Amino acid sequence: MHIYRPNEPVNGRIARNDLCTARKAAGFVRHVEIDVSGTNLVGQVRPGQAFGIIPPGVDDKGRPHKVRLYSVSSPTRGEDSGPPGSVIATTVKRTIDEDWETHKLFLGVASNFLCDAQPGDPVLLSGPNGKRFILPASPDQHDYFFFATGTGIAPVRGMVMDLLESGCPSKIVLIMGSPYATDLLYHDYFLRAASEHPNFQYATAISRERQSDGHDPMYVQDRLRTDRDRLVPLLDSDRTLIYICGLAGMELGIFQQLALVLRQSAMENYLQVDPETLGDVKSWSRSMLHKEVRPTRKVFMEVYA
Ligand code: A2P
Repeated sequence: MHIYRPNEPVNGRIARNDLCTARKAAGFVRHVEIDVSGTNLVGQVRPGQAFGIIPPGVDDKGRPHKVRLYSVSSPTRGEDSGPPGSVIATTVKRTIDEDWETHKLFLGVASNFLCDAQPGDPVLLSGPNGKRFILPASPDQHDYFFFATGTGIAPVRGMVMDLLESGCPSKIVLIMGSPYATDLLYHDYFLRAASEHPNFQYATAISRERQSDGHDPMYVQDRLRTDRDRLVPLLDSDRTLIYICGLAGMELGIFQQLALVLRQSAMENYLQVDPETLGDVKSWSRSMLHKEVRPTRKVFMEVYA
């Protein structure tokens, strides 16, 4: 970690910058690859960690922009577009908003800088950051259940690539949630990976449209109900780790659904719940998390507002 501090960043170069969503998607998300060859970041950046971007220029008070952290979506071996470990990637959503008071358009500084950057452009980097939300040291001793919403898929892409490409025989389930089917990220890659690797199952949860399998609009946790027979056996196993990445709030619904579909001894692998709280799962709230409802060490979370 912290090979380069934000006050002593290093120069990388944009290697690729591709649209990640379908052309008609509601949001704009890009897969941005950065060549770090010649720096000490080569081979040192893992999916689940983040790296810092220092946007060029100054803010409205004339001060240099502060560092922003972006989640690594590349596998540990790096992207295909360079020598091993020398091209890292992130998955960036353009931030576009309207100021409530002035009605002026607000464009997120770093996300729009990255989304507009062209191959060859220089970019100032720091990092890597983060040591908790990563794969375990001995990956084949576990099975994996990933829940991701939106750009929360970034670390999951790199982790799934790390697991599948190493020939790890572990069972892996990924449930990816997005508003519309056009907003699913890396969908073609995951479909192909699932068809090529019998140990990898991929399911989607579309929140504002009917599912392609006919189910009503749903959130990621609802797949535990609709696909119970195929998903619950994996969660029943002592080997399984749960990774949750995406919108803050998603963990509550997932925990509630785990408590509803799993027998108590299996649920206790993932959650420690006060006995008086257990009877009334549907009324759990976020304020109970880390108090009455506590995730165990088998649950890894990276959620953001
Ligand atoms: P929705 O916005 O329809 O309520 P994105 O980041 O691309 O907007 O995608 C985030 C996805 O996560 C959307 O489908 C969003 O649904 C969904 N979502 C929002 N809140 C939750 C929640 N509490 N639990 C699970 N999924 C959620």
